[in-house]
Amino acid sequence: MELLELMKYRRSIRKYQDWQISRDDMETIIEAGTYAPNAGGGQRSIIVGVRNAELTEKIGRLNVARFDRTRLSGSYVSTDQPSIIDDSTMKSGFYGAPAVCIVFAMKNFLYSIPDAFCCAENMVLMAAELGISSCVIARGEETFDNEIGAALLREWNIPENYIARCFVILGYCDGDYPQPKLRKAHRAKIIE
Ligand SMILES: Cc1cc2nc3c(=O)[nH]c(=O)nc-3n(C[C@H](O)[C@H](O)[C@H](O)COP(=O)(O)O)c2cc1C
Repeated sequence: MELLELMKYRRSIRKYQDWQISRDDMETIIEAGTYAPNAGGGQRSIIVGVRNAELTEKIGRLNVARFDRTRLSGSYVSTDQPSIIDDSTMKSGFYGAPAVCIVFAMKNFLYSIPDAFCCAENMVLMAAELGISSCVIARGEETFDNEIGAALLREWNIPENYIARCFVILGYCDGDYPQPKLRKAHRAKIIE
């Protein structure tokens, strides 16, 4: 697909089939993440791919365990792809996706958050090109700030000075794929 067309096509998907993505596709998506622009050319972010539906669900539940909904009244994200903000009964912040990529970045590096989200953007676009649905997910730090999360970080040999900044959940859309979303007007200008 032509790049701008792909960008318009890509949507955040929160309804997934059980079907797992292939290892080759996950490797390609991670490779795309590693080619993201990165502050100072430091290539500091680390990406861990989990291609295991059970483990993905476990992490997804940790992702939402400490989510504070009390300050969200009145806001909503999507009617056709409802988020945890729209539906307070949801138990996983990963929406039943069978796979997830976790982007870790250095705790004390000034640009660690933008670095991680640049990786995520490359990954969701790569996924869309491969026909795989995705969604960027926040709350990296709190997801692993508990005993189960800390044990996973040790198992994966994540360096002490690294922190999870975001996730890209991956899988195949269950039901109708949403249409491109209309853009709000007057958000850009060009000065000559
Ligand atoms: C920084 C960032 C954080 C996000 N965090 C979440 C999240 O935690 N949960 C979620 O369901 N969607 C999350 N999203 C996805 C947005 O809700 C989504 O991009 C937005 O509603 C626009 O919809 P679209 O991606 O389909 O165009 C996040 C997106 C960004 C850029």
